[in-house]
Amino acid sequence: MKKQLLAALFASGALVSSGAALAGDAKAGEAKAEPCLECHEPAEDFADTSAAEIEASLKKILAGTMKHKEKLTISDADIADIAAYLASAK
Ligand code: HEC
Repeated sequence: MKKQLLAALFASGALVSSGAALAGDAKAGEAKAEPCLECHEPAEDFADTSAAEIEASLKKILAGTMKHKEKLTISDADIADIAAYLASAK
């Protein structure tokens, strides 16, 4: 039910334009986070970090206001999914 509602909102573009904070999809994030695992062990690096905190850090990294060892080439649309995965992979 919730999924269908989200799908409907996506289809209508409501969420995209409202800029609402989306709960990421950890399952989808697993594949997207693959390149990160080379350096990050989620259970260690993000053990005490919530998805929202990881998301906030990633936005800063992409904006260039937070230092990161490697330039990240992830898209804004993938941030929430990757954050959800990294926060859940413990
Ligand atoms: C080449 C190794 C490397 C790769 C690849 C890498 N990281 Fe990192 N990351 C680091 C290091 C090292 C730090 C610690 C800060 C620093 O020194 O840059 C860090 C820090 C972070 C932080 C900040 C942690 C905090 O305190 O909030 C986040 C979030 C993060 N990485 C996410 C990612 C994501 C998502 C990916 C994949 C898209 C990724 N990293 C890929 C090495 C890497």
